[in-house]
This record gives sequence, C-alpha cells and structure tokens, in this order.
Amino acid sequence: MTVQARCSTPVGQTVPGAALSLGGADRAARGVHPFSLVDMQARTVEYLRVSVTDRCNYRCTYCMPAEGAQLVPRPELLDFDEIATLVRVFVSLGVRKVRLTGGEPLVRRDIVRLVDQLANIAGIDDLSMTTNGHLLAELAAPLRKAGLQRLNVSLDTLDPGKFARVTRQGSLDAVVRGLEAAQAAGFVHTKINTVALRGLNDDELLSLCDFAADRGLVLRLIEYMPIGVDQFWGPDTYLPVADIRALLAAGWDLAPVERTHLPGGGPARHWIGRSRAQPSRTVHLGFIAAVSEKFCRLCNRVRLSSTGTLRECLSAAGTLSLRDMLRGGASNADLKAAIHAALHGKVDAHRFDGAVHTREPMSAIGG
Ligand code: 5AD
Ligand code: SF4
Repeated sequence: MTVQARCSTPVGQTVPGAALSLGGADRAARGVHPFSLVDMQARTVEYLRVSVTDRCNYRCTYCMPAEGAQLVPRPELLDFDEIATLVRVFVSLGVRKVRLTGGEPLVRRDIVRLVDQLANIAGIDDLSMTTNGHLLAELAAPLRKAGLQRLNVSLDTLDPGKFARVTRQGSLDAVVRGLEAAQAAGFVHTKINTVALRGLNDDELLSLCDFAADRGLVLRLIEYMPIGVDQFWGPDTYLPVADIRALLAAGWDLAPVERTHLPGGGPARHWIGRSRAQPSRTVHLGFIAAVSEKFCRLCNRVRLSSTGTLRECLSAAGTLSLRDMLRGGASNADLKAAIHAALHGKVDAHRFDGAVHTREPMSAIGG
C-alpha cells in the first residue's frame, strides 16, 4: 500500500475558513472549530486519546509479555500540568473529545486529580476513560464526581479461570464489581470492550451479549489488531467481524443502526441485537472492524503517549515529542504549529496488512 494524496486540501495546516471549505454547511452548522485540525484526507481531528501511563496492573497475554512491557522511567512521563497544557492546546485546535487511556489509567497515582483538572478545561464536550476496571470499585464514584463522563471497560471473558489466565494477574470479580460501582456512581452508556479471539472467547460471545443486555451495557466487539505481541496474530486467532456476527446470529437477530444517541461517535458500527428466544430483549452492539473493514476514512483522532509523543495513527510510530518542546520552553503557538505539521503527515490509512506492525505493546499506545 502507498500513501495516496486523495485530496488537495491545504494540508494539515488548515486555518480560518477551512471549516467552510471542508464539509461545508453541515460542519459549520455543527459549530466546528474555525481553527480545526484537518489532515491530507480532509479528516477533522476532534478526538484526542491521552495515555496517562504505560504501566498496567494486568499482563494480558495478547498485549504484553509475561514479565511485563519495558517501562519508561517516571521522569519521562508527562506530569499533570504538562498533560493539561497539551490538552488545552489541542482543545484550542478544535478537539472536543478527550479519552484517558494507559496502560491502565487507574494505576496512575492521583488520577482523580487529573480528571478534575481536565474536566475544568472549557471546550471539552466529552471526557472519557478506557480502563480494565480492576480498580473501578473504589474509584468509580470519585471519578464521576471529578467530572469523568463515560467509561469503557475491557472484558474479554466471563469465565473466572480463563479471565485469570488471559490477564495473568486479573480478577473477573473485581471487574464485575467495578462495573456495578460505575453504574451506582451514575455512569451511563458504559461500554464493554471485548477483543474477539478465535480459541479464546468465540464460544462466549453469546454469554457476553447476555451479560451486556442484563446490565444495559453496550458490548463492543473488537477485531484483534496486529500490534505488539505477535504470537497471537494469525488465522488461528484472528476473528473478523463478519465471523463474529455469524456467531452472534445463533442467539440474536442483528440489525444495523444508522444513527445512535450514544455520545462519542468513532469508528464503531452500531447494531441492535434482538434475542431470538425473547424478542423484547435487546442488546446494543458495536463492531470495530479495524482490520477487515478499514474505517480510516472516518478517523477523527490522534493519540498522545504517556511520554508526550504525538501518534497520528495507531499503525505509525510517533515522532513529534511535544514533551521535549514543552520542557524546552516552546510557546503555545510553537506547539500548535508543530501539531499542524505532524498532522500534515498523517497517513491516509493504517498499514495493518497481516504482519505485526509495531513492536510496542498496546499498553504503550493506549488502544
Ligand atoms: N488488538 C485489538 N485490541 C487490543 N487491545 C489490546 N491489544 C489489542 C490488539 N492487539 C484492547 C484491550 C482494551 C483496549 C484498550 O485495547 O483489550 O480493551
Ligand atoms: Fe491488558 Fe489493557 Fe493492561 Fe494491556 S493495557 S495488559 S490489554 S489491561
């Protein structure tokens, strides 16, 4: 695959007026930011994923080696003020959605204080977090109080033994209690993230649907991506969304949803499942066909690593260290110019074509 410049948009450095030239009345009506970040493919970047740590209290077999990933020294991690400063710069460029990821974001000390700091930044419409849920039982209420709006919780299996084997040091019971605490704390539209893997949980997809339906959770089924730990990538494990749907069809009638009331947008395709045995029973499903049906055309996101590197695409190694710029005394204007220039180089589509593309574990990227 080669990079195709399909669009002659004044690349990456879109400036006042661009909102009108790209997407026209619709975006203007939605109040798209006049300085918004628009890349070579005319995709507007409105969504920033911020990895707050590369540490994790789990060691999922498909994500990390048993001994854990190599960790960056703590002084290299962004501190909270640096994160807040960079988030403000992105918000001034039109970012409206911010998601905190890891590693496991809840192992970052004082994470609730960071949430509080970010929740006070004007201009963020949607502040969310992706977590493995292990520490959620104690942290859900304070996070909610600090201003976190939504949660995605990773859950690949409902079998306690399998859960312990897959996560190596996780506890299914802790995650289920975490989900309950989230609900009690007032979180709604909570999503379960399930990476579907042949031989791991292909026999459990129906039970996961029931679990989500019983609790009013959204179940997101994610294709395994060739990132990080390569022994998992291959026809024995990779389960395309088409096969996932075929497995679900044994218990649920599936229908796509054109529009969703769920905040967040993103690449997931939303479907409703209606129980075949009990048609009044429904489940809200999201399918992330990252590999089989590339959604890169709809990509609206960039990632900030825990060390402050901008990663324009999941499949690309980040090169711009915003942390080094910040620590070197760069002004907001310098940071904005550098971000625009980096977006200029954002690839049109990911380069997952079967081989493992980045040796960095997902824990260092943040999903
Ligand atoms: N492919 C797809 N999803 C992955 N995750 C971790 N590694 C991969 C991978 N290679 C998921 C985790 C979590 C989210 C942050 O990313 O299970 O739900
Ligand atoms: Fe598992 Fe997520 Fe931790 Fe990776 S970062 S080991 S997928 S919980």
